Amino acid sequence: MSVEKFEKQCIQALQALSIDVGTSLEIPADRSHGDFAFACFRLAKQEKSSPHTQALRLASSLVLPPSIHAHALGPYLNFQIEKKTLFETILGSILTTAYGSLPPKTRGTWIIEYSSPNVAKPLNIYHLRPTVLGAALDRIGRLRGYDVISLNHLGDWGKQYGLLTVGFQIYPMPENPTIHDLVALYVQVNQDAVTDPTIQERARQAFCDLEAGDPQITALWQKCVTLSCASFEAMYARLGVHFDYIWGESFYTPMIPSLVELLKAKSLLKESDGAWVVPVTDTTGKELPPCMIQKSDGATIYATRDLAAALYRYERFHFDRMTYIVGAEQKLHFIQIFDVLKQLELPFAKHCEHIPFGLYRFQDSKMSTRRGNFITLEEVLEAAQQRVYEILQSRQEARDDDAEVAEMVAIGAVIFHDLAVDPIKDIDFALERAIDFEGETGPYLQYAHTRCLGILKKAQFVPTFDPSYASYLGTDEEHALIRHLGLYPRTLERTLTTAKASILAHYLLDVTHAFHVFYKHCHVLTDNKELSYARLLLVEATRKVLAQGLSLLGIPLPHRM
Ligand code: ARG
Repeated sequence: MSVEKFEKQCIQALQALSIDVGTSLEIPADRSHGDFAFACFRLAKQEKSSPHTQALRLASSLVLPPSIHAHALGPYLNFQIEKKTLFETILGSILTTAYGSLPPKTRGTWIIEYSSPNVAKPLNIYHLRPTVLGAALDRIGRLRGYDVISLNHLGDWGKQYGLLTVGFQIYPMPENPTIHDLVALYVQVNQDAVTDPTIQERARQAFCDLEAGDPQITALWQKCVTLSCASFEAMYARLGVHFDYIWGESFYTPMIPSLVELLKAKSLLKESDGAWVVPVTDTTGKELPPCMIQKSDGATIYATRDLAAALYRYERFHFDRMTYIVGAEQKLHFIQIFDVLKQLELPFAKHCEHIPFGLYRFQDSKMSTRRGNFITLEEVLEAAQQRVYEILQSRQEARDDDAEVAEMVAIGAVIFHDLAVDPIKDIDFALERAIDFEGETGPYLQYAHTRCLGILKKAQFVPTFDPSYASYLGTDEEHALIRHLGLYPRTLERTLTTAKASILAHYLLDVTHAFHVFYKHCHVLTDNKELSYARLLLVEATRKVLAQGLSLLGIPLPHRM
């Protein structure tokens, strides 16, 4: 039996009394009140009585399996599962099943578009947010039965790439240019354009040639895309991120004529100063700035390519949900896109969502003064790796794999620091805080995991689950830890529906706190062999949940710290 089964049984018992429960119960904030709770406010209103009276009535009339007890407390009906059954079920699920997972490809197709940087610039620290959030949802989605398709929508099209190819023509590039050469070139040619008006005109022409498929310009542009992709790939590899498809905006440009035809056929295009736009309203019907489709010079824009992309993706994948993880500053853009799709009467329009995220702010003055706001992801990772390496070396005798461990801890620290914050909020980044081994950080969680490994290794533990061991466990600390472990599948589900990895991040902190309390109060290795074995099973169950939860967030698991 799985953990979710208990909640279902409670819900079914309520439904048997014709009570509208919804699909889930609450988890009492004070866990001594019970495992699940049903709030009786709405029911009381319907019945014109008090919530407590209703809770009492339900408690005495519900028919529940013998292992579940219901009692009224204030306005709540609380459900308590008998410890032994609870322990057996939770530990058994964790230790003998693919805990937290659902059968693959049973829940529809989910496109997650994330990272999506613009080419010709290295990844900025700001790109960490959509990259690691997207990757976390991608992994969790697959584990929970979705057929996930991950897309990286590179910004590789537009007038700025015309300007860059002009730069290539003016300045000879080194034999093997790096992404930083590209940035320098772009800055230079932009500066030149200020004093030399012909450059802008050449850039415009170059982009027209690019759109027309001119082989020479295309080759220059291709060089710049290839170079950028190599630099992105190096960072993605370091972060453990993979995409099913990396399709730049350029990929969708051939699909634009048919999109324009469709917009025309539906009479949605309106002329505005020589340009073509689609008027847009928000969900309340309020008029918003129109969605530009084609500029007066015939050029298409970012939004046009996004519309073509949405159509193509639906045609190809028939997705059930499409999530765009893109900065909050593009909120209006996505409202416009989704509204145009709706006006096109495309049924998938309502399954598209934009998950916005906030900014990075640097408290660390050393970093914030460097080249204004442009802080590369690479320099943040380097600084973190260096700092962790120093810490490791200062704490113990140097070991051969210190650099390797430092890299895993640093990546874990930077990723966790990002994911622990609700995506919509800004992040105040301070390196020392992110890597603090004692704070609420990635390293703290990684450390808890290595600690479990250490305990199991010392005991030379080979876990074989036998439900009878559950009867040896019963202290409050054990109970609290097991209950936390039991919330794992539910936490994954909530993380997916809200698209907030911070939910899983905070859950893992809770598990770790509960584990530390347990470890402090309950000796694992005692003279009582059965008790020790039962506690080792609990340590192994904790390790499994931490290992999987951290891996889902993209946090590496060092074998020691
Ligand atoms: N490349 C864009 C930028 O850096 C983000 C792309 C987001 N995705 C999309 N389908 N518009 O601002």
